[in-house]
Amino acid sequence: MRLPRPRPDVSLVLAMAAVALLLLSHMSPPGCPAPERPAEPPEVPTWPPGPPRAAPTPCQANLSVAAHPDFAAMPAHVRDFLLYRHCRDFALLREPPAAKCAQPVFLLLAIKSSPANYGRRQVLRRTWARERQVRGATLRLLFLVGSDRDPHQARKFNRLLQLEARAHGDILQWDFQDSFFNLTLKQVLFLEWQRTRCPNVSFVLNGDDDVFAHTDNMVTYLQGRDPDRHLFVGHLIQNVGPIRSPGSKYFVPTLVTEDEHYPPYCGGGGFLLSRFTVAALRRAASVLPVFPIDDVFLGMCLRQQGLAPASHNGVRTAGVHAPSPRLSSFDPCFYRGLLLVHRFLPFETLLMWDALSQPQLDCGQRGLVY
Ligand SMILES: *[C@@H]1O[C@H](CO)[C@@H](O)[C@H](O)[C@H]1NC(C)=O
Ligand SMILES: *[C@@H]1O[C@H](CO)[C@@H](O)[C@H](O)[C@H]1NC(C)=O
Ligand SMILES: *[C@@H]1O[C@H](CO)[C@@H](O)[C@H](O)[C@H]1NC(C)=O
Repeated sequence: MRLPRPRPDVSLVLAMAAVALLLLSHMSPPGCPAPERPAEPPEVPTWPPGPPRAAPTPCQANLSVAAHPDFAAMPAHVRDFLLYRHCRDFALLREPPAAKCAQPVFLLLAIKSSPANYGRRQVLRRTWARERQVRGATLRLLFLVGSDRDPHQARKFNRLLQLEARAHGDILQWDFQDSFFNLTLKQVLFLEWQRTRCPNVSFVLNGDDDVFAHTDNMVTYLQGRDPDRHLFVGHLIQNVGPIRSPGSKYFVPTLVTEDEHYPPYCGGGGFLLSRFTVAALRRAASVLPVFPIDDVFLGMCLRQQGLAPASHNGVRTAGVHAPSPRLSSFDPCFYRGLLLVHRFLPFETLLMWDALSQPQLDCGQRGLVY
């Protein structure tokens, strides 16, 4: 479960915004077409054609669930979930070029993003999720996206995603409604996609587009680990169960599960897993009924496979509290040793990445950069 964002200090935010504007003014505007268009990028190889595949037939709602006396009183998104819970076959609208996984990928960054979150994707591409080599390890980036529920908006966003796909080759999009209760569907479809399109990846970072991940630290942590053994680490959550109050974003009625306990799981803001564990989750996901909260669902999949998630102290999906009132929680020295922090605004991500990239970042003297 994603936890609420701690409120940052207003004057701090304003100061950071000013610096962000300064930094941004040195970058090319992402949205505007350049007056002189660069040459079209070279043709990228596409995936070899697979066996001909019929477009999935539209999935019919399961109306028998609507006969339940409690059904009508459920919030709309819960009713939607119950009616379409069994639907898993959705057309792939866009995928990256085959070059994405042509070389062995050490760490695949698979980031869940909504069609409208262009700004977040753009900042990630320029900062911690930039495709690059880190000490010989290849990092690759993918955004996992659905479609907008409003057909008019969907057309607009599909055009945007087409532009992004052409410019960056990092969009993986399916034809289903991108909603909170469909995040599990997105996760399951990604696991399936990886099986045929990117099987040689060693490790995967699964996460949200509003986190700050210290990808260099992640490589350090993962190098020396065996991708063919179980690994699933993040912010471990245990001894919790479904929230039964209908007002909550995480409300799960007994109609969805009567179980009052969730298995241990890692907060969905970001977690690391090996390809061994990706395959195990895929096997479990193909037999378990979909559960609407994606990170809890992965905990269920791990349990089904006899595996357990583990805690890593460097993953703080519940946010970070400053160690003392005199120290800013935005102090880069504070983040230097972490793996992942939920949640960052786009400009905060840019500032933090820039600060951590300064070779003269001197944490010995606790020199605050901001
Ligand atoms: C439809 O819903 C009923 C009642 O919840 C369930 O028993 C049945 O398995 C569902 N059918 C499908 C195809 O999922
Ligand atoms: C998930 O996506 C499907 C396909 O677009 C849609 O029918 C269903 O209502 C969505 N479910 C939720 C909970 O948004
Ligand atoms: C994955 O690696 C194996 C052995 O290293 C190789 O035979 C196979 O062709 C690779 N697959 C892809 C899709 O790159």
